[in-house]
Amino acid sequence: MKGVVLISGSGSNLQSLIDNASSIDLSIEAVISNKKEAFGLQRAQQSNIPTHALDHKLFSSREDFDQNLSQLIGQYNPDIVILAGFMRILTAEFTQKYTGKMLNIHPSLLPKFQGLNTHQRALDAGEKEHGVSVHFVTAELDGGPIIAQSKIKVLANDDVESLAKRILIEEHKLFPEVIHWFTQDRLKLEKNQATLDGQLL
Ligand code: GAR
Repeated sequence: MKGVVLISGSGSNLQSLIDNASSIDLSIEAVISNKKEAFGLQRAQQSNIPTHALDHKLFSSREDFDQNLSQLIGQYNPDIVILAGFMRILTAEFTQKYTGKMLNIHPSLLPKFQGLNTHQRALDAGEKEHGVSVHFVTAELDGGPIIAQSKIKVLANDDVESLAKRILIEEHKLFPEVIHWFTQDRLKLEKNQATLDGQLL
């Protein structure tokens, strides 16, 4: 199945997809970043994957940026659009275009801690557990139907860095697994609910 991956930063999730691509039947056709300095672009280039930097600051509006992004993605005619640390809010028009074929990974146990600084907010709230979610993307920020989550225990001496490190390990396992469900045609978005093999998740 053909995928386009959107990133904004280090791209460690992208790397786990590159490393697992053949076993999860994913052909990464292109990697697009809204930041030209994103290290993930270098990771893609090292694997001979076409890359594009589309600087959101060069566009007059969110709509304008999203339209250009959509055009760029469209050139690759992907079956799946993967948000792997893509730190931009998307317009409803954009998300509707990819309804049921766009997945995001978010570093919290959604619906807790939508948005930014999830690890700090989990610590501040005294959470005993924290984790990561993969969900279908809808117009609602970090609010689309949840597909799968991985949990870790928050330890007494945890800080943002230690949490981020342990959660990234979970992310790198969970995201390829969920994407494999999708490439096997087992994962669907039906009536705004995620299903696996026809069963509600
Ligand atoms: C990951 O922790 C991902 O879950 C998070 O950004 C990080 C990207 O790391 N995504 C979000 O916060 C989206 N709202 P990476 O560039 O090393 O994959």
